[in-house]
Amino acid sequence: MNDVISLKKVSKYFFKKNKIRALSNINVSFKIGKIYSIVGPSGSGKSTLLNLISLIDKPTSGLIKIENKIINYDKQDANDLYRSASIGIIYQNYNLLNDFTALENVSLAELALNNNPKTADLNAKKVLSNLGLSKRINHFPTELSGGENQRVAIARAIINKPKIILADEPTGNLDLKNANSVFKTLFNLRNKNRLIIFATHNREFAEMSDCKIEMIDGNISNINGKL
Ligand SMILES: Nc1ncnc2c1ncn2[C@@H]1O[C@H](COP(=O)(O)OP(=O)(O)OP(=O)(O)O)[C@@H](O)[C@H]1O
Ligand SMILES: [Mg+2]
Repeated sequence: MNDVISLKKVSKYFFKKNKIRALSNINVSFKIGKIYSIVGPSGSGKSTLLNLISLIDKPTSGLIKIENKIINYDKQDANDLYRSASIGIIYQNYNLLNDFTALENVSLAELALNNNPKTADLNAKKVLSNLGLSKRINHFPTELSGGENQRVAIARAIINKPKIILADEPTGNLDLKNANSVFKTLFNLRNKNRLIIFATHNREFAEMSDCKIEMIDGNISNINGKL
């Protein structure tokens, strides 16, 4: 009963020149307190699945429940607010705003929720310093290494203490040393009130999760571990 996210018969089609089936009738659920990895070949639907869960994209059919509420994908404002408060998202290419410093990139995420620049600034400094970035707070993304940028992106993802953390190939752009450090950071964010889901092409990182979900061609082909 402690499923925080569940998908029922979820399909996603893209209609470009041809109809592309990105997800096919997916049934899966995710429990609080656990870390899940999603693996599978390029094009198998990992990012599409994460984009639906993060309420960025909407399914073509099927239902997605988060915290026992069926998501209404037409209520964009409510969904945006829920995402700001409860979902931290980390992307392969960091998705930081280049015209803003590390500190600003992180504090803006809190400002989106409560309009108090002082506490946002204070909390952003705290989170960045916890991730070993206190000397980099006034640097712009172009002045930071890949590993540093990804740690800023993690700080931004966690400043609002989200219940759900989603990471889409968070180490895809990093060398092994930085990839290891980012994964260590990600795994340290585990707690009993939080769900973490990450997609990766790295088998070793995937094996470290509580449950590995394998995808092929828009389907879940195998689930390794307890759902
Ligand atoms: N915006 C889009 N428009 C059209 N087709 C899309 C779109 N996004 C994804 N697709 C298609 O949906 C399928 C699944 O893509 P998805 O990005 O989810 O794969 P993935 O498993 O994340 O791959 P990768 O490992 O390369 O990141 C692919 O066939 C892809 O071409
Ligand atoms: Mg992807």
